[in-house]
Amino acid sequence: MTKLTDLPAWKKLQQHYLDTKDIHMRELFAQDPERYESFSLKFHDILFDYSKNRITQETMDLLLQLAEQADVTGCRERMFSGYPINNTEHRAVMHTALRNKSGEPTYADGERIDEEISTELDRVKLLAEKIRTRQWLGHSNQPITDVVNIGIGGSHLGPLMVTEALHPYSIHDLHIHYVSNIDENHINNTLETLNPDTTLFIIASKSFTTQDTLVNAMTAKDWLMHKLESEENLHKHLVAVTSNVKMAVEFGVAEENIFKMWDWVGGRYSLWSAIGLSIVISIGAEHFDALLEGAHDVDEHFKTAPLAENIPVIMALIGIWYNNFYNSESIAILPYDQNMHRFPAYLQQADMESNGKGCDRSGADVDYSTGPILFGEIGIASQHAFYQLLHQGTKLVPADMLAPISNFNCIATHHRALMSNIFAQTEALMTGKTEQEVKAELQQQGLPDDEIEALLPFKIFPGNRPTNTFLFYTLNPKTLGSLIALYEHKIFVQGIVWNLNSFDQWGVELGKVLAKNILDEINIADPVSNHDSSTNALINYYLSLKPIKDPN
Ligand code: F6P
Repeated sequence: MTKLTDLPAWKKLQQHYLDTKDIHMRELFAQDPERYESFSLKFHDILFDYSKNRITQETMDLLLQLAEQADVTGCRERMFSGYPINNTEHRAVMHTALRNKSGEPTYADGERIDEEISTELDRVKLLAEKIRTRQWLGHSNQPITDVVNIGIGGSHLGPLMVTEALHPYSIHDLHIHYVSNIDENHINNTLETLNPDTTLFIIASKSFTTQDTLVNAMTAKDWLMHKLESEENLHKHLVAVTSNVKMAVEFGVAEENIFKMWDWVGGRYSLWSAIGLSIVISIGAEHFDALLEGAHDVDEHFKTAPLAENIPVIMALIGIWYNNFYNSESIAILPYDQNMHRFPAYLQQADMESNGKGCDRSGADVDYSTGPILFGEIGIASQHAFYQLLHQGTKLVPADMLAPISNFNCIATHHRALMSNIFAQTEALMTGKTEQEVKAELQQQGLPDDEIEALLPFKIFPGNRPTNTFLFYTLNPKTLGSLIALYEHKIFVQGIVWNLNSFDQWGVELGKVLAKNILDEINIADPVSNHDSSTNALINYYLSLKPIKDPN
């Protein structure tokens, strides 16, 4: 297999970068009145405008050649057919099967999986419906009023992000809470307002070995037992989602309250599975189906659209253009929708845990840059916080901006102002403000020449800062499903081009192992000397203050 940097398209892109890097997007727009038409795509109610990028048609042609030479289409085929493309864990990657609405059988590593997916989904919907209609009763025959999802990473961020994003679709007399942090503040703050008689916990952990989740789950169980007294009563307040049924049973969850996950679903791709139980409880089965449908539509688009019209492919290639040729280090995700406030955090795991890797699929070190640093926040809030750096800083930070054209409870004065901001920001980032423009403006304000000269450098905006804009009609379940799937496939395509296994996460292991050893040392509470001098000193300082009394 040819190394990425030896591919003919890669070499041409290097030269093309040198030839075009100094062209300002202003010029590109001025030269081509059809630029928006050439560089925008529509998918159902999602408009994807990528014209405000430092690209020409030649850039796109070369990037598309790169995708072909990296065998994006062959790898895509292998993923959808259930081939074990997660080579370090010998697993297929079949999150797309969880939302497969085609009625066609699906397979993971040769085994048919669609029937058990559908059985499990039905069980999830049944439980959710019982809770939503107050038929699921706690030990004292009172209906459940509060559901607490205990999980972390993919067992937390996806469900939390979707529940928040679809707030207008949620049932309002049921409260869904999310606890992820092992820091006791998280569970303490959550439990202080809850009543054990009317609270149901979902322990969401694919492995059922994650320390953070198990410690929180144990605290929740103790809190319940205090009031409920018997294991039998407990069963009415505890359910689990896991691929490790044995451990969940040992923990005290009744087997009939355990929902299955499979090895072929990665944690960060699992919100479509029973891990989405809290979502189904919040928005109901019909809306959850719409979420799956939106994602499935994108799967079909990704599988069938020509690469040049394939939105996830274009998103991925533009990202590669900046990451590998402009050497930009990061990407900003900026939703102009308050309900999407956890979308950047969700994508952070999806992207950085997938492609934040330094060796390729064969285990060889890569000699090119891989996954970017992804960060983001609500666009409006960020304008008053870090957009300064986006506009005038020394770093090139390509940004994705996303906004709904209308809202569930749209208030025209709010929404028009919101939209004016997203449009203004993408325009300002692209056009900037030249020296002549600033000078003319200050002269018009009647400022003396010496003051104009002094102020000038601070008021210039270089512009030429790239953005993608996604506009969608409203953030309904179907559209959200589509948006998430677009990003999932973008990450997949980038992983293929960078020749990574995007579906393992060995990089999270070392810290886990060290934490376990240090926990043993902290429990013994004798001074330590087996670490580096900083770590020894920090642990010993902590121990010397005897901060916590052992409960036993
Ligand atoms: O530590 C990282 C990780 O393994 C993620 O990949 C995963 O989403 C998260 O922990 C939670 O894992 P689990 O669902 O097995 O508790």
